[in-house]
This record gives sequence, C-alpha cells and structure tokens, in this order.
Amino acid sequence: MRILRTIAEVRAAVGDARAEGRTVGLVPTMGAFHEGHLSLMREARMHHGLVVVSLFVNPTQFGPNEDLSTYPRDETRDAALAESVGVDILFAPDPSEIYPDGFATTIHVAGITEVLDGASRGAHHFDGVATVVTKLFGIVRPDCAYFGQKDAQQVLVVRRVVRDLDLGVRIVACPIVREPDGLAMSSRNVYLDAEARAQATALSRALDAAEIAHAAGDSILPAALAVLAEAGIDPEYLELRDAETLAPVERVDHDALLLVAARVGAARLIDNHLLRRSPA
Ligand code: PAF
Repeated sequence: MRILRTIAEVRAAVGDARAEGRTVGLVPTMGAFHEGHLSLMREARMHHGLVVVSLFVNPTQFGPNEDLSTYPRDETRDAALAESVGVDILFAPDPSEIYPDGFATTIHVAGITEVLDGASRGAHHFDGVATVVTKLFGIVRPDCAYFGQKDAQQVLVVRRVVRDLDLGVRIVACPIVREPDGLAMSSRNVYLDAEARAQATALSRALDAAEIAHAAGDSILPAALAVLAEAGIDPEYLELRDAETLAPVERVDHDALLLVAARVGAARLIDNHLLRRSPA
C-alpha cells in the first residue's frame, strides 16, 4: 500500500491503473478506522482493481463548538488496518492540499440538508461534506464510492450531489456495522466512558423497539422514545422520515428511516433503522 499526500501523486497512480484497465473504488474517510470502515474497504476491494481510501479530517464540516481538535487521529494505526484489508492507496493530504489559499467554492444541497443533522449541527456540516466529497471525486475520479449507512442523511446528500452535477460516480451504501450489544460502530465511540458506553446501547435498543412496534402495527415513535427515556437519554432528534426524500412521515406507507441523534456522555451519536413499508 502506498501513502500519498498530493493530488498530483493520486492522479498519476489512478492514471496508471486506468491505463491497465483497472476500475477504481474510493472510500472517503476521516480515519480512526473501525470495522465499519474496514467493511467499506473490503467491499471496494471485491469490486475494483484499484482501491483508494482517503484519510482527511475535513475541517469545513465541523462547527466552531464541535470536536475538530479532539477528533481521534492515528495515521500509523489506520495505515496498518487499511493495508491489512488490501487497500492500494491511502490518500492522506494536508489541509492546504485540499483547501489551498484562495479556495472559494462551496457545494450546497438545498432541502434534505436542512433537517436532522443539518438542523442540529448547522448548514456548514453538509456544505463541508458535499464540498470535500465533490473535491475527492474530482481528484480520484472513481467508478464507485463507498459510504456507511450509519450516516444515512450523508448518503442521500452525496447521491443528490452526484445526480445534480452528473458526476458519474456510483454511490454504494454499506450496512451499519454494530458491536455485539448493538451499538453502531463510530469513531466517536472512543469518547464514551464505561457508564456512557452502557447507556449508549439504548439507541439501537430504541430502534429495535420501533421495529417490533412497527411489525405489530403499534405506534413507532413512542416505543422508541420509551427506551431512550428509560436510559435517561433526551434525543436531539428521533424522527421518522421518507427513506428517499427525508420528508416527515406519520405512517410507513413507503420505506421509511427512523433516525436518532443524542448526546451520550461526551459523545454525540447517531443511528438509524430502515422500516419497510407496512403490508397492505
Ligand atoms: O463520513 C465521513 O467520514 C465524512 O463525512 C466524509 C464522507 C469522509 C467526508 O469528510
């Protein structure tokens, strides 16, 4: 595996692979790898002759009161993990390589960015994500890019950018990877102390309770809220939304996402679950 720092190096490596007829899969990440990231890399490895993983803690998607300075960083460990699953190129640029002096462009997606995490974290968040992902697509020009379904709203935002700007990248959303007790894997789980770690399992348990209520034809949100309340968690949001448009829904007439965000101890966690359309 090669660790590359510059756009020119990545372009040259991708150009060589293309000349050999290889397809290119990109896994955009901010590092602090866990099994969720590795599952994306393995999926990309299965389908492409060249697998590029970007490792860039993107400053523009963090708000002033968020965890940019404390976000977990360990490039040596990440590089070893990426190599262990067969990644070809780890692109780990300096911020100045991505945002040189005079950088003045922002990609803003209207509508779906204004709710859920866009409302909780502020408009800068998805502007930052959309801008850096568009930039990474321009640098790597992958055939496919792999994202985790845990960030369900992010997946929809990236799909919209690709569609609206005709970027020609296939977006692959991979299933959420969970700890044995159900907690969705996240780089931010390292912020949880033992007490918060136990409390955090309430998020996935709330989603499970919602699924059971849905299957039984009972009200979905109260079932999930009860689990959170019992664990002492007051969610930033717990919302049922159309799985494609993120429009609010009352009943699961179409596939819907139940999405939750909550502060648990020192971490802000998100999770979601797809509820399939109720049988007629
Ligand atoms: O999901 C992430 O890790 C980030 O939001 C992404 C897609 C790498 C953009 O910085």
